Amino acid sequence: MKSLWQAGTCILVAAAALAGSLVERVPAQAANCSNPLENSEPVRRAGAKLYARECAACHGSNRDGIGKAPPLNQAEVYAAPPGVLFWVLRNGSLQRGMPSFAHLPEPQRWQIITFIRSQNRSSKSQPDDNPK
Ligand code: HEC
Repeated sequence: MKSLWQAGTCILVAAAALAGSLVERVPAQAANCSNPLENSEPVRRAGAKLYARECAACHGSNRDGIGKAPPLNQAEVYAAPPGVLFWVLRNGSLQRGMPSFAHLPEPQRWQIITFIRSQNRSSKSQPDDNPK
């Protein structure tokens, strides 16, 4: 009976997991995993190149989102802990059209994460807004 009960639990979890956006559906423990790379300009730039190659076709070169692929230049994504974004890149959301990027070397995935989280400051202001 135990296995039946467990199967039922999984169905419940899966049903709950369909509500909300992807970053909200990531297991909470994922947040414990932190970005091993420093938050530096070279890392960010490497991430920008990888973003253009791997992600822009779906999420748009400005991260505005295209069709089913949500915008990434939004508060929810900036606020997501790096470990949550790492989980998203490792697992994707295959049934909803977000591929897994587990094939990319981990440092490249962290570079992309550094890039997509780095846009926080300029997102709600003018593109030429310089920090004072
Ligand atoms: C083939 C199209 C496609 C590609 C390529 C792609 N994505 Fe996605 N992405 C999606 C879709 C569709 C979703 C929505 C999935 C869902 O709602 O479950 C998504 C969701 C996300 C989310 C969650 C956003 C939120 O608000 O919850 C993040 C973060 C993300 N993608 C980052 C990336 C990054 C970084 C790359 C490049 C490494 C990438 N994606 C490449 C289609 C794509």
